[in-house]
Amino acid sequence: MKIGDLIDGEYLTDEILIIARALGKTKAWVLSNLDKEIPEDVLDEILEKISLRKTGYPLQYITGVKEFMGMEFTVREGVFIPRYETETLVEIVLDYVKSKGVKTAAEIGIGSGVISISMAKLAGIRVFGTDVNDEAIILSKENAERLGVSHLVEFSNGEYLDPFEKFFDDIELVVSNPPYVEMNFKVPREVTFEPADAIFSGKDGMDFIRGYFKRYGRKWDTFMEFSGSEYSKSVVKSFCKEARFFKDLDGAERFFFCPSERV
Ligand SMILES: C[S@@+](CC[C@H](N)C(=O)[O-])C[C@H]1O[C@@H](n2cnc3c(N)ncnc32)[C@H](O)[C@@H]1O
Repeated sequence: MKIGDLIDGEYLTDEILIIARALGKTKAWVLSNLDKEIPEDVLDEILEKISLRKTGYPLQYITGVKEFMGMEFTVREGVFIPRYETETLVEIVLDYVKSKGVKTAAEIGIGSGVISISMAKLAGIRVFGTDVNDEAIILSKENAERLGVSHLVEFSNGEYLDPFEKFFDDIELVVSNPPYVEMNFKVPREVTFEPADAIFSGKDGMDFIRGYFKRYGRKWDTFMEFSGSEYSKSVVKSFCKEARFFKDLDGAERFFFCPSERV
């Protein structure tokens, strides 16, 4: 079978990537060698991955990698796939960390560890991270090890910041990209393969954010990703009237900052 026979239709760019990775070549090489025969020893693997992708199964679970802030993270089924808009949250947080001289931060809901690890790697600060998903903790530890920041991060399973109560006085900043989608929202097919409790947060999508403010009030300066709808902004404002909102690269309000009320 020739390379060109495998590339068609809706998932064209993903098919090229799957073939390139299996052959250890670049995407440009694949495109300029469409008439080359696929070696027998990788044909089955390529066919299997392409047919899986055609079911809507996410490309990142198939390749096992996702680039974030210029670094390669391992991702796998059972853990949320990082989104590019979250890079903007990290950039805003890094500016804040540098301008305030933050030394210790915490993240709630680490997933594959992209936010915590980026903060540790790019700002050199200490980060405590939690997640209610055991697989997320295992994966984040692997990513931290591979990216050389294990000495700066501590990851633990638990709700909100429960596992790090004894460090509450050290924490200067909290960051989170929590679940924020309304329970009945119909997500694209790809998203249905990701863990639901990383995506949905109650009837109006605001259970996690309400829960955070009810637990801790305005104990720490806080940056969070959220839906940015007028309704969700009004919920955030009801807990934090000084909240400031930030846009993502598509121009949608996607993040808020709530200053602490600590004296
Ligand atoms: C949208 S994902 C974000 C993952 C990662 N930070 C990222 O940006 O790619 C939300 C994560 O929060 C976790 N989570 C949900 N509720 C939580 C809670 N109450 N306490 C800690 N983690 C929670 C989920 O398991 C999931 O991994």
